[in-house]
Amino acid sequence: MTKTTKRPCSEEELQKREAIGVIRASRFVRKYAQSHQDINVKVVFKIHNEIFKDVWPEIAGGCREENLKIANSKHLPPHYSKVSALVNNFDNELEQKLKELNISEGIILDINNSPDEKTIEEIEKIIRLSAWIHHKITHIHPFREGNGRTARLAANLILERYGLVGISIKIEKENKNQYCNALAQIDIMEDYEPLVTLISDGLIERYHGVTMKYYG
Ligand SMILES: Nc1ncnc2c1ncn2[C@@H]1O[C@H](COP(=O)(O)OP(=O)(O)OP(=O)(O)O)[C@@H](O)[C@H]1O
Ligand SMILES: [Mg+2]
Repeated sequence: MTKTTKRPCSEEELQKREAIGVIRASRFVRKYAQSHQDINVKVVFKIHNEIFKDVWPEIAGGCREENLKIANSKHLPPHYSKVSALVNNFDNELEQKLKELNISEGIILDINNSPDEKTIEEIEKIIRLSAWIHHKITHIHPFREGNGRTARLAANLILERYGLVGISIKIEKENKNQYCNALAQIDIMEDYEPLVTLISDGLIERYHGVTMKYYG
């Protein structure tokens, strides 16, 4: 049996509340990144809860109970009955990948000087893990709604925990195809490069903004 969830309020009110939810979730991610608490799948569900608790409490922070299609995508999210097992596997894989990352403290970037080789290597590892978590969430599509937003914030949690900054991947009309194609490329060929490039571009843009602001 699939449960159909109804949303309250007018479309305009919902959009407003969702936008506020995303801001609240971004703040949660920033604070969590600075804490020393474990990163695991529970945190991903908390991010989702922060986005939706005031707008769609029935689905906030919980697995979907229905089957979904992703608009304009060939990827069919797994049957809803499989989601909780997939989420458990995801949690185990994440734990393993965080161990392998083996960066206990966040890296410190000196924006006036080019990073040394070891730092570049670490930055690459952080970006790859951020891309991995991003895709994993969108692939499993554990939520009834908000999978993309949760995935982008979880990806930022990885960047911010390890000393980089959160980014904003462009998903407006003209950029959405590029973003979705980057995710599809992983589905099809396990090729993370397009998503890694999008994240790297986002970081370059953020750091460029910071240097312009403080150093002109
Ligand atoms: N081929 C694909 N494989 C995996 N995930 C995909 C693919 N194409 C798109 N997606 C993801 O699915 C998201 C849409 O799912 P959903 O509507 O649950 O997310 P959302 O947060 O509500 O939307 P949005 O990301 O547009 O704000 C896309 O934004 C993208 O992150
Ligand atoms: Mg959506």
